[in-house]
Amino acid sequence: MTRPRLLIVEDDEDIRTQMRWALGDDYELLLAGDRTAAMAAFTNSRPMATLLDLGLPPRPNDPEEGLAVLSGMLVLDRLAKVIVVSGQGDKENALRAVGAGAYDFLCKPVDMDELRLVLKRCVYVADLEREYRAMQETARAEAFEDMLGASPLMQTVFAFIRKAATTSAPVLILGENGTGKEMVARALHRRSRQRNGPFVAINCNAIPENLLESELFGHEKGSFTGAHAGRKGLIETAAGGTVFLDEIGELPSSLQVKLLRFLQEKTFQRVGGRQEIESDARVIAATNINLKEAVESGKFREDLYFRLAVLVVTLPALRERGGDVDLIAREFLRRYGTQHGRPGLTFASDAARALNSHVWPGNIRELQNRVQRAAIMAEGKRVTAADLELADGPDPKQRPQTLREAREQIERQVVEEALRRHGGKITSAAAELGVSRPTLYELMERLGVVRGE
Ligand SMILES: Nc1ncnc2c1ncn2[C@@H]1O[C@H](COP(=O)(O)OP(=O)(O)OP(=O)(O)O)[C@@H](O)[C@H]1O
Ligand SMILES: [Mg+2]
Repeated sequence: MTRPRLLIVEDDEDIRTQMRWALGDDYELLLAGDRTAAMAAFTNSRPMATLLDLGLPPRPNDPEEGLAVLSGMLVLDRLAKVIVVSGQGDKENALRAVGAGAYDFLCKPVDMDELRLVLKRCVYVADLEREYRAMQETARAEAFEDMLGASPLMQTVFAFIRKAATTSAPVLILGENGTGKEMVARALHRRSRQRNGPFVAINCNAIPENLLESELFGHEKGSFTGAHAGRKGLIETAAGGTVFLDEIGELPSSLQVKLLRFLQEKTFQRVGGRQEIESDARVIAATNINLKEAVESGKFREDLYFRLAVLVVTLPALRERGGDVDLIAREFLRRYGTQHGRPGLTFASDAARALNSHVWPGNIRELQNRVQRAAIMAEGKRVTAADLELADGPDPKQRPQTLREAREQIERQVVEEALRRHGGKITSAAAELGVSRPTLYELMERLGVVRGE
């Protein structure tokens, strides 16, 4: 263990000796006798704490020199821990120093036991602050606009959002169920120039075709039975903002034409209307189907596809995000634990293993549901795999016996992970592993690996 570094600013030789004797074992001491030496030592070695005599040469009888040292240190480090030592009967100046940001004060003659205690507490607080600062910094790297993710794949998504937000070109968001498509759409909106305008979302799959047209483009009074009054559609409402078209792959072909025209001209007509209406709403679309395949099979218009897919982002499945599973699971557990009046819950080791070996077909939404349920159902402070309704994962403590077994175990793991990452696609998994397709098939057979999804 390294000793914490303590800077002692004191001009009295006797006191310096006394301190060296009392504190030398527990702290790495630096000594300075005046303002210049004190500032130099502070700048060069950033002590954990500083013990500062207020009366320093050339004016040992007034506190100004010491107070100048104090403010100089605080300018260099807002969280510097300075303990002021003042002359007898000079409490007033000691309090002035505390008002100016000193951590604590002691009066001469200094009681060494008291000093040790104050220092100990001071180092403890400084440690906590340092830890907290470091935590805040990592938290910043692990989250972006409420989205958690430290994995390289998610960092790429965050970088995409930063860039795409600066334009108003359409964006197409691809990704499996529950990967955060709507969250990305909202983040894009919040970071865009249209952020003060409305964000309106519509699920193209949830509304019957005849209503969807009026929902999107609005209708004029009397345009169909029951249309007693004219009504704005979402694209009109979203003027100055963003319209999010979820499940765009399900948009009926008649509406595909109308949407294409809107994307080209920025104008449209309400149902039953003749007037050209303008809207500058930015279009963000999302789908969990393979839209290119839908184009090939004639279900989705190619020209519309190209208009929508000016900027495309594909959200990785949760199983491809490595350590993000742990990161997000812990955050959800903290969040739901607090929400349900059960703070301080942690994952038992079988739960941690299960989280990492599960393939998460429902992605983050599934993780969210399982953790929320577990936060309510767990018996004690520890959430188990059973609370998550997951099977226990492989036990890392079960070590293989022979070299051959070890090799097989690693091979199996690497092959399984590659297949998982590529959604069970042999060609791309083989390419990543640097083997031919037949070799990968052979490996899978020998190792008893099934293709999975
Ligand atoms: N990176 C993330 N960090 C934390 N929470 C997330 C993250 N991504 C998604 N979520 C949460 O997961 C849930 C699903 O996200 P969202 O609705 O955006 O996904 P989706 O892809 O639109 O899903 P679906 O296909 O089911 O419509 C939401 O509750 C969202 O808040
Ligand atoms: Mg969604």
